[in-house]
Amino acid sequence: MPAIEKNMIKASDFGSDFIWGVATAAAQVEGAAEAYGKGLSIWDTFSKRQGKIKKGHLPTTACDFYHSYKADVELVKLLGFKVFRFSISWPRILPDGKGRVNKEGILFYHQLIDECLRQGIVPYVTLYHWDLPHALEEEGGWTAFSINNSFNHFVSVCAKEYGDKVKNWIVLNEPFGFTSLGYMLGVHAPGKTGLTNFFSAVHHTAIAQADGGRILRAEVKEANIGTSFSCSEIIPHTHSEADLLAAKRVDCLMNRLFIEPALGMGYPTAGWEVMERFSIQHSTWRHTERLTFDFDFIGIQNYFPLTIKYNAFIPVVQAWEVKAKNRKKPHTAMGWEINPDSFYNIIRQFATYPNIPQLMITENGAAYHDKLNNYQVHDQERIAYFQQYLAALLKAKREGLNIAGYMAWTLMDNFEWAEGYNARFGLVYTDFKTQQRTVKDSGLWFQDFLNH
Ligand code: BGC
Repeated sequence: MPAIEKNMIKASDFGSDFIWGVATAAAQVEGAAEAYGKGLSIWDTFSKRQGKIKKGHLPTTACDFYHSYKADVELVKLLGFKVFRFSISWPRILPDGKGRVNKEGILFYHQLIDECLRQGIVPYVTLYHWDLPHALEEEGGWTAFSINNSFNHFVSVCAKEYGDKVKNWIVLNEPFGFTSLGYMLGVHAPGKTGLTNFFSAVHHTAIAQADGGRILRAEVKEANIGTSFSCSEIIPHTHSEADLLAAKRVDCLMNRLFIEPALGMGYPTAGWEVMERFSIQHSTWRHTERLTFDFDFIGIQNYFPLTIKYNAFIPVVQAWEVKAKNRKKPHTAMGWEINPDSFYNIIRQFATYPNIPQLMITENGAAYHDKLNNYQVHDQERIAYFQQYLAALLKAKREGLNIAGYMAWTLMDNFEWAEGYNARFGLVYTDFKTQQRTVKDSGLWFQDFLNH
């Protein structure tokens, strides 16, 4: 197959039924974090702990999307996207995580969904994009056995409320992301650490993923149900056996931990003792059955590959990342390696699982140090990033992989978790003081690209 010239690709090369979307998440954009009956989320409380978020930024106002959603949906349309992926804030619907329903919260998402439909934009709704109700964290959060009942209740409320209007659902956003960063490394909310916390959070999350799918299937007619996974090609630093095995362990955690149980394969172990013990504990027939669900599509989210080296000093996983910067590789403002071939490779890796009806890229994008100048942001690097990644995606698609669509991360600069407002990923520039939006050159590039 001839190489694809990245400057020449057109959206129409992907076929007329290919889905083009742009994504956001409630806690990153909505603001109104302590208003209109919303309960606190773990990000509202975690961000107030000293030193947890860069420069002490808080998600309280974020992009004020709660008040500007109409204009923001208009931006989605203006940029040429047909799909808008957003998430529902659990504590806005259920301020205590369970029980009492917040009518204002219910109404807000009705209005948002109606606005999308009115503007001809198809909503893709994520049920959990990391903003757990703080009240549930007080009971142990994802480490508590009771979380599954609470989550199922939340899913059922949303499915019943919005199921007539919303057909496309994503149960969880990046389960490995929030269980590892939030319950093992402690750098994301709720800031817990250690293997015991991590593994119990993993198991309850894997149950939630499949239970959520089943509830949507039962409640929503003609639902298109997916869930999304973070994934990264794992590249061993050298061909030494120690590096190969270290890479295998990281791959087991980062790429396989949640998709394999969902596909009915049980937890992966990669011949690794820690994982074998965990898997044995949870591999009764009842467990395996409950962890399985026939998703209609699998969302994959890719930002970077990881180069991994054996390191005996790192507990348990004994693996260490050799950073892009230290290898003199191109990288974004987050230090994440820019490597479109690795995007292609990880799509292929996921496509080798049998029984995945469709793959969908539910997030991909890059942060740069954008500067607003005379109402313009010339983010040429971001355009180049998208051009290269989309060329890699087209290559995978032309080779016959069943990829249904692509969603760019993200509509506008927003609250980037522990990075606060310092990392800008948007196609639209957000002035966080005035809430003024400015379409960046990359947004204009998408507008043009999606027109051809
Ligand atoms: C998350 C987003 C986040 C993005 C960039 C993904 O892991 O789903 O919420 O903003 O990566 O870090």
